[in-house]
Amino acid sequence: MSLLGIDIGGTGIKGAPVCLETGRLETERFRISTPRPATPKKVIETAAEIVRHFDLQGPVGFGFPAVIKHGTVRTAANIDPSWIGVNAVERMGKATSRTVVFVNDADAAGMAEMRYGAGRSRDGVVVIATLGTGIGTSLFVDGALVPSTEFGHIEMKGRVAEKYAAESVRKAKGLSWEEWGGRVNEYLCRLDELIRPDLIIVGGGASNKYEKFSSCLTVDTEVVPARMRNQAGIIGAALAAQTAA
Ligand code: BGC
Repeated sequence: MSLLGIDIGGTGIKGAPVCLETGRLETERFRISTPRPATPKKVIETAAEIVRHFDLQGPVGFGFPAVIKHGTVRTAANIDPSWIGVNAVERMGKATSRTVVFVNDADAAGMAEMRYGAGRSRDGVVVIATLGTGIGTSLFVDGALVPSTEFGHIEMKGRVAEKYAAESVRKAKGLSWEEWGGRVNEYLCRLDELIRPDLIIVGGGASNKYEKFSSCLTVDTEVVPARMRNQAGIIGAALAAQTAA
């Protein structure tokens, strides 16, 4: 079975049909830049355009960079604040005339890694940290997702962790890979102390450049890069849609 997965991000909205047997994209992904300001109306219109582009039947899954509870957006750390309180499922459903499912983007990436990638067949406690514009996390206990963990918002050095160790901080502050790798290491050590996982998977944009900072990681738990790289969000969103198929 193939379903459409769409990853809504701060800079781009990307989608593709995903084969759920293999976890592979069936065609090139289709990307449209995220409109500015990224208000609910504009983002929903853009995402609906991606749905029309593929014309694939069935429910559509969306990964979204915020906490979603029962279809409603609850937080807005890196998105337009006007999203708070919006029932994304209802609004997107109306705009696309489809059954839609919304999940947190890091939870989507984690679902993809657990099913097809670096976390495949791994039991115990697994945490995926996606390092991008912000830091997203997803937590699995014996393969079951504990949703909306938001460990990117733990406190580190008097500020929220994602403002210290996200990939965007490396770029904005012009940090070397070593300097930034040291920050990532501090973050992962803190995460390790808090939840004592059996495996940490590093995902997000930074996972493409893992070898540039992996030598900085001294955390006393197995750490591996995500395998699905920047496709994990799309693949996980399609997996989420399967719950409505
Ligand atoms: C948000 C998370 C999201 C992460 C990555 C954070 O700022 O609070 O919900 O998963 O960014 O996009």
